[in-house]
Amino acid sequence: MKEQWVVYISREEIAQAVKTLAQAIDKDYEGRSLVVVTVLKGAFIFVADLIRELETPVDRIELLRLSSYGAATTSSGEVKVLVDLPPGAVTDQHVLLVEDIVDSGRSTTVAFNLLKEQQPASIKLCSLLSKPERRVVPVDIDYCGITIEDKFVIGYGLDWDERYRDLPEIYVVEDGAKS
Ligand code: IMP
Ligand code: MG
Repeated sequence: MKEQWVVYISREEIAQAVKTLAQAIDKDYEGRSLVVVTVLKGAFIFVADLIRELETPVDRIELLRLSSYGAATTSSGEVKVLVDLPPGAVTDQHVLLVEDIVDSGRSTTVAFNLLKEQQPASIKLCSLLSKPERRVVPVDIDYCGITIEDKFVIGYGLDWDERYRDLPEIYVVEDGAKS
C-alpha cells in the first residue's frame, strides 16, 4: 500500500527535473520546431508537463504504444508494438522521443528503430528516469532527468500492473510489498 512505500522522488524534484530538461532542449533547438513522439503509457504525465515547460514550438504530438512488463516488476524482454506511428508521421521532421524510464533499453531501441524507418531529419531522446545498472542494450540519452538505482518505481505515470500511475510523487516498491 502507498502508505508503506517510501517517497523516492518528490513532486518538487520532479518539477525541477522537468524544468531543467525543457531548458536544455530549448537551448539546442532554438528556432526549430519539434515533433514529440511519446511512448505510452508510462510517459503520458511526463510529456504533458514537459511540453508545457518547453518554449520550442511543438508542431505535432505522436503516440507509440509499446508493452513489455505485464504484471511483473522485471522486464519480460519481449517488446510488443501495440500502437504504431501513422505512415510518414515523422518523415523529415526533428523528432524528440519522450520516454518515462530507460531500463533494459529494449523498448527505447524498438521505438528508435520504428522512427528511423520513417527517415526523420533528426531524433533525440529525452527520458525522465534512467536505470543504467539494468541496461542490456546500450542507449544514448540526450536529455536524462534523474538517474536512479536498480529499484522498481511507480507513480507519475509509471505503473505496477497498470496501477499507481496517478500518484503525483515517485515511490520505490520495496521488496515483497503487495498492493
Ligand atoms: P525497458 O526495459 O528499458 O525496455 O523498459 C520498458 C518499460 O518498462 C519502460 O518504458 C517502463 O514503462 C517500464 N519500466 C521500466 N522500469 C520500470 C519501473 O521501475 N517501474 C515501472 N515501469 C518500469
Ligand atoms: Mg513504459
